[in-house]
Amino acid sequence: MEGDGVASGGMCGIIGVTGVDEAFSFLVEGLRQLEYRGYDSAGVALVADGDLWLAREADGNHSVEELALLETGSRVVGSGVSGSRTGENSGASSGASSGAGDVSIPPPRHCEAGIGHTRWATHGRPTVENAHPHVDCSGRLALVHNGIIENHAELAARLDANGHEIASETDSEVLVHVIEEELRRSESLLEAVRRALEDVRGSFAIAVVSSAEPGVIVAARRVSPLIFGVDERSAVLASDIPALLGTTRNLFALEDDQIVELRPGVAHVSGLDGSKVDPVPLTITWDLDAARKDGFDDFMTKEIHEQPRAVAETLLDRHGPGGSLVLDELRLTREELRLVDKVFIVACGSSYHAALVAKYAIEHWTRVPVEVDIASEFRYRDPVLDQRTLAIGVSQSGETVDTLQAMREAKRWGARVIAVSNVVDSSMTREADGVLYTRAGPEICVASTKTYLAQVAALEVLALALAEFRQTLDHGVIERLVGNLNELPAAIEECIDREKEVFEVADRILGARDFFYLGRNVGYPAAMEGALKLKELSYLRAEAYAAGELKHGPIALIEPGTVVVGIATRNRLREKMLANVAEVRSRGATVVLVANDGERDVEDVADHVLWVPEVEPLLSPVVNAVPLQLFAYRMARELGYDVDRPRNLAKTVTVE
Ligand code: F6R
Repeated sequence: MEGDGVASGGMCGIIGVTGVDEAFSFLVEGLRQLEYRGYDSAGVALVADGDLWLAREADGNHSVEELALLETGSRVVGSGVSGSRTGENSGASSGASSGAGDVSIPPPRHCEAGIGHTRWATHGRPTVENAHPHVDCSGRLALVHNGIIENHAELAARLDANGHEIASETDSEVLVHVIEEELRRSESLLEAVRRALEDVRGSFAIAVVSSAEPGVIVAARRVSPLIFGVDERSAVLASDIPALLGTTRNLFALEDDQIVELRPGVAHVSGLDGSKVDPVPLTITWDLDAARKDGFDDFMTKEIHEQPRAVAETLLDRHGPGGSLVLDELRLTREELRLVDKVFIVACGSSYHAALVAKYAIEHWTRVPVEVDIASEFRYRDPVLDQRTLAIGVSQSGETVDTLQAMREAKRWGARVIAVSNVVDSSMTREADGVLYTRAGPEICVASTKTYLAQVAALEVLALALAEFRQTLDHGVIERLVGNLNELPAAIEECIDREKEVFEVADRILGARDFFYLGRNVGYPAAMEGALKLKELSYLRAEAYAAGELKHGPIALIEPGTVVVGIATRNRLREKMLANVAEVRSRGATVVLVANDGERDVEDVADHVLWVPEVEPLLSPVVNAVPLQLFAYRMARELGYDVDRPRNLAKTVTVE
């Protein structure tokens, strides 16, 4: 079954400027500041002398730097980049988005307006064709987009019927063609963009320029962020503050369903419905570093706060025609998946914990046996796999060498291999037979947070897809579970909102040195993940156990001063879990329990409770992880450690 192959706008950065002569260098500098939002491809479009000039690059984390080289002349054209002019005055063929084969011209020194984009592909390859800006068929309009256009397929079919040529696999490109159509019956670019957006469902921050209206940028927003600023002679816009610091302090936020027309020195804002709007001024007290972190103290906090969105985007668009589940680039047939008689999941660290959660779900929903292995063990232990084994490598980076080698080993045994990864075009996604992406955006903090949650969500979708192919669950049950999955972002949000309560508990525990994390069923891997967070961030000893195993030895270590963190949310083993907790408490342990709202009986066995909303038990690790992340975070901060860069660790481990 193939995915729809659409590359979404995802977590990207956009920028625009009008009224500045050296627009190219302004845009490139802005893109550098936005690279933390993604960087697998980048591009710029300029309006100069009635023409459109376009350059795009898809070179991983060098994309913006490659663009910058165009200006100094140290690079004119190369792999995947084209400085080209389109439009009537250039005499060049229309459709600058074709990229290859265009006449290469360095960026014009003087231009009226320009827009730029840096992209983090969420699915679909990060290629030049998929890079923004996208250009319409006439070669006059260029557009950048951050977000996801949910009804892109519908719009693309309509455009196709009207003779438009869609050059990329992105959901974004359709927008520029819809605007092109609307321009035919509109008096201005502003009117055309407004009309075009009437047909659009999804999230967007867009900026559009037209060689027919030099000096004008039209930008609009729904959900995805967009700010703009004006001074006497120019106007600017961007996804985020870092790109505009040092320009003007006269900055404003565009709100949902608003549209702005920028001209040098003038910004005209209105509602998408035409209503009059007074823009909200932004008070900027941040320096560049704080701005890159969206004002949060560190990337870990920022990424914890991005979790609802990371999970929501990972779950988005998973329904294909006929209601069946869609998995990005799962290049395996239904028949192959139906024949699978064993699943092997390999991973390291937090990704391994996500895999352990998935084992419970896959076995319960599909009745296929699942083995989960630490990748570095799997490689060297002569595992038993064959052509009917489905091997799944789970890796945020897609580059962890142990997991990569384990996947190669699985392939050598004839297994079909799927990669679950956050990075498009990583080594694992290139080599695997199929790919399922977590769409969490770049994770900068060394400790995984949002990507772990997204991995669990992605693996649960995969489990449901397997259940669907193998007909082990009724359609109605699958629908209910998909509904339960879609409720997770709101539950995660609620947990984040309770940050203060978690911090208060952490503050009362501060000083403890020995921790045990206990859970049963999916609570066990959730406990393992909680313990890992505490270890790596606060350098405290934390051991995770299946709660039922404690009596077989480790309980000897419990003494007054030991802290036991237990997962006691609702599942069929909850009573047994509470009994296990009572055993450690009677031996002097201080007990912290993660429990569902309203279940006050836990207070009989706990010193402190971290309350979470109730969700479907097999999905609960996604929610229960949040207070444990916050707990570890607070302990580390209070102990004075750098949470983003814990000692001895690297974000991606490419050595054995
Ligand atoms: C823990 C953490 C690591 C990674 C592990 C695997 O917070 O981040 O344990 O989970 O190094 O990395 P990936 O997922 O990139 O293979």
